[in-house]
Amino acid sequence: MLSRRAKAAFYTVAGPLMKANGKLYRHFRAPQEGRVRVHLGPGRDRYLDGWIKVDANIFSGKADVWADLRNPLPFHTDSIDSIYSHHMIEHLPDIEFHFREVYRCLKPGGAYRVGGPNGDSAITKFVEKDKEWFGDFPDKRTSIGGRFENLIFCRQEHLTILTYSFLDEIMTKTGFTALHACNPVKETNYPEMFRECLLKEFETDFATPHTLIVEASKPKRTPGA
Ligand SMILES: C[S@@+](CC[C@H](N)C(=O)[O-])C[C@H]1O[C@@H](n2cnc3c(N)ncnc32)[C@H](O)[C@@H]1O
Repeated sequence: MLSRRAKAAFYTVAGPLMKANGKLYRHFRAPQEGRVRVHLGPGRDRYLDGWIKVDANIFSGKADVWADLRNPLPFHTDSIDSIYSHHMIEHLPDIEFHFREVYRCLKPGGAYRVGGPNGDSAITKFVEKDKEWFGDFPDKRTSIGGRFENLIFCRQEHLTILTYSFLDEIMTKTGFTALHACNPVKETNYPEMFRECLLKEFETDFATPHTLIVEASKPKRTPGA
């Protein structure tokens, strides 16, 4: 893991370049028709064939679009069928803005599958004092508090706590409908869109999953409305 300082330096130097690259991509290359699927923050390996991968990391990863996801998404309004992100949004300073951007870019009837560290499960397991549930990444910790802190803040990489009610509040406010929490790996309400994503997700605890996964859709427009 890059140190926080190295990461801040990277975004300071590369931020303006990524901003310009995102704008150029949106203007000249972003698809305007056909089936469009976008994977935000795929990281180093969990790639999905046929999905447009957007990431800031082009050193150890293989992004199709080099862009900073703190900025407006590099896609046209109403242009994407499905958007997927897994353990990415907790790194963003303004997730309400992120959900507004995702909503803008989705076609009416399109859907977002989003996942990140499960704050609800972490609180339950903290109260139960289940140290083993937490593991000890990124820092070796032996206390329940230290392990809880690891998962929630991840050496200050994470900027928010993801709980279902919080996502429900901001996604519903944004306009998303049909919101539901999924049991990771096993479930999607949109198999034609997200079936292949399930294969990339791993979970060892199906009762109290480590990853909170939520799906929601942008409602179709009703004629005359
Ligand atoms: C913890 S990794 C998750 C990788 C993968 N999705 C997974 O589930 O294993 C977070 C990913 O989001 C990307 N990311 C985080 N903040 C970003 C930003 N502001 N702009 C672009 N990519 C970002 C990182 O570069 C990294 O690839």
